[in-house]
Amino acid sequence: MQTKIYSVDEQSLALAKTTIEKGGVVAFPTETVYGLGANAFDDGAVSSIFEIKGRPADNPLIVHVHENFDISTLVSSVPDYALALKKAYMPGPLTMVFKSTGAVSKFVSCGLDTLAIRIPNHKDAQAFLEYVNLPIAAPSANRSKHVSPVTAEHVFDDLYGKIECILDGGKCIGGIESTVLDCTGDVPCILRSGLITREMIEDVVGVCDVYTLKDGEKVRSPGLKYKHYSPNCATASFDFDQIEQAISLYDDCVAMDRKAYFLCDDQTSKLVGGRLCLNLGATEGEIASNLYLKLREGEKVADVIIAIFPQKKDGAMVGVLNRMSKACK
Ligand code: TXA
Ligand code: MG
Repeated sequence: MQTKIYSVDEQSLALAKTTIEKGGVVAFPTETVYGLGANAFDDGAVSSIFEIKGRPADNPLIVHVHENFDISTLVSSVPDYALALKKAYMPGPLTMVFKSTGAVSKFVSCGLDTLAIRIPNHKDAQAFLEYVNLPIAAPSANRSKHVSPVTAEHVFDDLYGKIECILDGGKCIGGIESTVLDCTGDVPCILRSGLITREMIEDVVGVCDVYTLKDGEKVRSPGLKYKHYSPNCATASFDFDQIEQAISLYDDCVAMDRKAYFLCDDQTSKLVGGRLCLNLGATEGEIASNLYLKLREGEKVADVIIAIFPQKKDGAMVGVLNRMSKACK
């Protein structure tokens, strides 16, 4: 199968619509990362996503809808706090989990009685969803376990020969996946951190829990238990206050003729004495936006990526640190 990258216009949207209608998949940009979309009502199309990605069969998918789509056909028991959050942050990098009506393919939620809904805030994602006029089940458009894609070329590198159509919407600005919020309880509960932070949710609804897996408990968001975001090279990670250890590992690598790069923010890059860095930038927004870009850049040139976590640990950095530590453990 030939894989092609298309700029988004009437012609490529028409091709995307035909592809989706005949049970195929289309990669499309969102403000977080690229998604690999299929008709959420079509069992065969949804199953093929798992095959193409090599995704574990018990890791459920998010359904993406256009901003005017009536979600009451897909989910029920939407609490008032979720309506307030939808008004405040959707379209945007927020996914909400509700009771499912069972309307979409059973393969979307992998046997759970809930469904995750997201309204992406990217003009090309909205154009695609409006054009196909269907709810689209989509995980990130990478090989399972690899770094999530933030450019059309990243999708191509992972999935060429396996999919026909990649819609190119440029570099994803957000850079890390959406916040996944469980809205089935009395209080919203963050299952996966992202750019819609706990503080931002508390600002609107007063309270917000953060899920942590307790011993012996069944994991509430199956994606949490899998290896994720890993570059194709050796990795190590250190906290900001372990910078001396990070430098000594770097120097040991170089002494053994292994090409090492630090993955760190701008502040830290100034403290490592001219050694090679994949510089994530200075602000929270830059660091999130550049994380996957730099991991993908790094795996092409480095034998070892040594992550040094930023000093700041709250707000959007919770999501960044979660991805960085999983990618570089
Ligand atoms: O930003 C994003 O969310 C991107 C773009 C493409 O929209 N999508 C994405 O999808 O990151 P994926 O499949 O890579 O991650 C979906 C996460 C997984 O951790 C999965 O376990 C969780 O959402 N999830 C999906 N449905 C769920 C459900 N019904 N209950 C709990 N967790 C769910
Ligand atoms: Mg993913």
